[in-house]
Amino acid sequence: MMSRKLLVFLFLITFLFKPISFLASAENVTFDFHSFTLRNLTLLGDSHLRNGVVSLTQELGVPSSSSGTVIYDYPILFFDQDSNTTASFHTRFSFRIKNLNPSSFGDGLAFFLSPDNQTLGSPGGYLGLVNSSQLTKNRFVAVEFDTRLDPHFGDPNDNHVGLDIDSLNSIKTVDPSSQGIDLKSGKHLTAWIDYMNELKRLRVFLSSSDSKPQNPLLTVDIDLSGYLREMMFVGFSASTEGSTEIHLIENWSFHSSGLSPVRHPHNVSDSSVTIITDIHRSSSGSNHHKKLALGLGIAGPVFFCVVLSVFGYISLRKWKGARTEKNLKAEFVAGPRQFSYKELMSATRGFHSSRIIGHGAFGNVYKAIFMSSGTIAAVKRSRHSHEGKSEFLAELSVIACLRHKNLVQLQGWCAEKGELLLVYEFMPNGSLDKLLYPESGHGMSLSWCNRKNIAVGLASVLSYLHQECEQQVIHRDIKTSNIMLDGNFNARLGDFGLARLMDHDKSPVSTLTAGTMGYLAPEYLHCGTATEKTDVFSYGVVVLEVACGRRPIEKEPYSQKLENLVDWVWGLHTDGRILEAADKRLNGEFKEEEMRKLLLVGLSCAHPDSAERPSMRRVLQILNNEADPVFVPKRKPSLIFSCSLTVEDIVSDDEECQRASVSHDEDHMKDSASQV
Ligand SMILES: *[C@@H]1O[C@H](CO)[C@@H](O)[C@H](O)[C@H]1NC(C)=O
Ligand SMILES: *[C@@H]1O[C@H](CO)[C@@H](O)[C@H](O)[C@H]1NC(C)=O
Ligand SMILES: *[C@@H]1O[C@H](CO)[C@@H](O)[C@H](O)[C@H]1NC(C)=O
Ligand SMILES: *[C@@H]1O[C@H](CO)[C@@H](O)[C@H](O)[C@H]1NC(C)=O
Ligand SMILES: *[C@@H]1O[C@H](CO)[C@@H](O)[C@H](O)[C@H]1NC(C)=O
Ligand SMILES: *[C@@H]1O[C@H](CO)[C@@H](O)[C@H](O)[C@H]1NC(C)=O
Ligand SMILES: *[C@@H]1O[C@H](CO)[C@@H](O)[C@H](O)[C@H]1NC(C)=O
Repeated sequence: MMSRKLLVFLFLITFLFKPISFLASAENVTFDFHSFTLRNLTLLGDSHLRNGVVSLTQELGVPSSSSGTVIYDYPILFFDQDSNTTASFHTRFSFRIKNLNPSSFGDGLAFFLSPDNQTLGSPGGYLGLVNSSQLTKNRFVAVEFDTRLDPHFGDPNDNHVGLDIDSLNSIKTVDPSSQGIDLKSGKHLTAWIDYMNELKRLRVFLSSSDSKPQNPLLTVDIDLSGYLREMMFVGFSASTEGSTEIHLIENWSFHSSGLSPVRHPHNVSDSSVTIITDIHRSSSGSNHHKKLALGLGIAGPVFFCVVLSVFGYISLRKWKGARTEKNLKAEFVAGPRQFSYKELMSATRGFHSSRIIGHGAFGNVYKAIFMSSGTIAAVKRSRHSHEGKSEFLAELSVIACLRHKNLVQLQGWCAEKGELLLVYEFMPNGSLDKLLYPESGHGMSLSWCNRKNIAVGLASVLSYLHQECEQQVIHRDIKTSNIMLDGNFNARLGDFGLARLMDHDKSPVSTLTAGTMGYLAPEYLHCGTATEKTDVFSYGVVVLEVACGRRPIEKEPYSQKLENLVDWVWGLHTDGRILEAADKRLNGEFKEEEMRKLLLVGLSCAHPDSAERPSMRRVLQILNNEADPVFVPKRKPSLIFSCSLTVEDIVSDDEECQRASVSHDEDHMKDSASQV
């Protein structure tokens, strides 16, 4: 089953390439936002919406450092390889740069085209375009409206418009005060940016009225065809550095044109491509935009994924046939790289026990220190020589294709000496359970602010996995020990050992591998089916743990009876004293309304009826105050199931510590099952 999935996946990504250019080159892209909603836009960093206007940076009366980006969701074709043509484009937008405290100005905003829709640049002079630590990583063509003089970027003054390509050192700048315009005046300004590929010329017009001026403010004769990638995202970014400047985008229209007309799809030399193309097209129908997005979304890491899938498929067959594996060497362009066993051996001091920082479902996790580069990573080492491998490959092919700021990023891998090793970013603050339930009983406890942030980050990544990836991913094993915390205590979801790629609109797959008791939705316990709603349930339990500082199943101190966290909180809700569930270690240092909201979100996610649980996207909106909370009934509703599996049927293999708790909790689980 696994190998077929990989094969299908491989087919999809290999053959999606061609159709994209056929489909996309037919169209000019045009959009026009008179005002903004969340529709079709991605907001990164501090950018947010207020009354239909995008505000790119934080709005605070006190000086702050902030950066934010807004990106049009759909990538746009700027270069067509088949016809070797580059698009022309025109854009118009109105913006306002205000300042609450005119003595602290800076830094400005930029309109950009970039192949990357994930990069959030740093605050300061970087205009939210590049990361201060990786100045050369992001590629872009941008027009900056800069309100601060940064001498190290060669800025002429604190009021200039310039063209930037892959660097903040502008190719050409101009001072708009020549046309009587002060960018920082707080007035509505409208900019027009045109690139005409036939003339190889870019022009910027700027006006404080609605009509386009006769003369451009900035004209640059430049051939952008060397910089415009096939697919690029368009958007705005801005930054502040200890200032109170506010950057508002009020409306925006965009139009691209000039790519040669569509070619006949059958006129392809390789007939296999034609066939697949046709299958793809007939099955896509009205869905073509989504499919397009899939193709494009993976266009960057696509090569890696193809190689990886081939690798996965081949190696799986090798192992199935119980053959000795060869030393697999795949050529990677970017992304995760292959490590040598020797390298990982020496970085972990020969997998020394003192370097163990965790135990996953299929092996230990080691801290690795690479002396040569001075970097630290976490290395996950496969323990089982047989069953572990397919799981390992599942994790590899899933996680390598996913990108989200709340995921633990895969840095590399190694398949040698009959072992499989995955190298991840090192998470200095460990896993959430270690912080929620410190072994010593005291130590630093998470602040309310951190806890809220963890709940939001987790909702964000789950919403990505469930709804935003074209290949829906059900995590299946959401629990506090799988949630890592980075240096800023942001939640990072890890351990995709149990995740499987699952096509949207397909019936949920059955599984007999279980997560951990207490995180399992009742219908999962009864029917053994994992859906996004079972993930939502586990998320609800985690949120309650975060708010209450209690384990999902805990012994009552007096009676020694096992108490289920969801039931306990729901009981307090029934009695109208839900706030008493709040973690005592917070010493009441939280906003009561926020705590109540988080607890109710937790309960609504842990609703016994899966149909009543909100989607992760809805949860995210609720936590961000963009949607109304879900009503939570005073009494926990009861449910009756038609199908039934016993706990033993479901829990086939898992960590041994769990086995103990299963036998312990079994009676309790049966109890609670008959209650629901
Ligand atoms: C864009 O917004 C500006 C400022 O609010 C306004 O003057 C202008 O008419 C708007 N343009 C369009 C096309 O909506
Ligand atoms: C969002 O994008 C879709 C598909 O490209 C389009 O049909 C729709 O009109 C867009 N909505 C807005 C508000 O631009
Ligand atoms: C594509 O066109 C450019 C000029 O626009 C030309 O210099 C280049 O050689 C062409 N490339 C191919 C592969 O035809
Ligand atoms: C981006 O820069 C910030 C500091 O401004 C740093 O904390 C972060 O790790 C950087 N991110 C990447 C992906 O380099
Ligand atoms: C694309 O845009 C150009 C210029 O704006 C226009 O002349 C052409 O007719 C458009 N093509 C299509 C297919 O809409
Ligand atoms: C197919 O493409 C070739 C060049 O690749 C061209 O000479 C031929 O005219 C095309 N045929 C059709 C039907 O478009
Ligand atoms: C980036 O674009 C791809 C493809 O359109 C999309 O799947 C992905 O969700 C986008 N990422 C973000 C952070 O918007």
